[in-house]
Amino acid sequence: MFFVIDGVDGAGKGEQISRLKRDLPSLYPEKEFVFTREPGGTNVPLAEDIRSLILSDRAKVASGAVMVQLFGASRFEHLEKLILPALRTGRVVVSDRFDCSTWAFQIAGQGGGKRAVTLFNVQRALIEGMLGTWTTIILDVDVDTAMQRTGNRKGQAHTHFDTRRKEFHEAVRAAFQTYANEFRHTHIIDASRSIDEVYVDVLEIVRRGLA
Ligand code: TYD
Repeated sequence: MFFVIDGVDGAGKGEQISRLKRDLPSLYPEKEFVFTREPGGTNVPLAEDIRSLILSDRAKVASGAVMVQLFGASRFEHLEKLILPALRTGRVVVSDRFDCSTWAFQIAGQGGGKRAVTLFNVQRALIEGMLGTWTTIILDVDVDTAMQRTGNRKGQAHTHFDTRRKEFHEAVRAAFQTYANEFRHTHIIDASRSIDEVYVDVLEIVRRGLA
């Protein structure tokens, strides 16, 4: 059982994931949960090294095709070292972001072009081969609200990912919608509502997935 929580920056993923971390173990005492995140992967050193590279200024001017490969390399390492072994031993894995972020940020936001799309499709086919199906929950919120939320966040590390303009975020938001149309088992949740209201929907999707 693999769940992904994703969405535009400022959609409120962090809050939803910390609630899942808090509640799932007691709601499902018979199951073991593993929480992880991308880019990188929790306690996956090579994937985390690639994360540092991705977030560094050197990657700022890299093309969409190059970035798809960097994200892809870290994702494959994440899959091989953490996600697949955990699933094989019957654990439930919840990831903060996954391939839908590449679809949204590199292909749409960054306008990656044909090469980026081809690379994404190859990766996607391989990942489906490894994982089978999984459930993706996309938190959707309008860009003004999202940018306001991220702007209000204090003490966050500043990387080139934090300096993007509104049009970029609009393209990313639209692409999360097309991802949901394109790939099965993807749910879009209205994340402009309160944290409590959004959480009811998130928990319901996880509950159905686990049933
Ligand atoms: P991160 O610092 O983990 O922030 P967040 O809390 O928003 O997840 O991620 C840095 C950025 O990486 C974030 O803006 C989303 C972006 N990203 C991509 O562009 N492509 C991807 O495939 C992934 C997983 C993330």
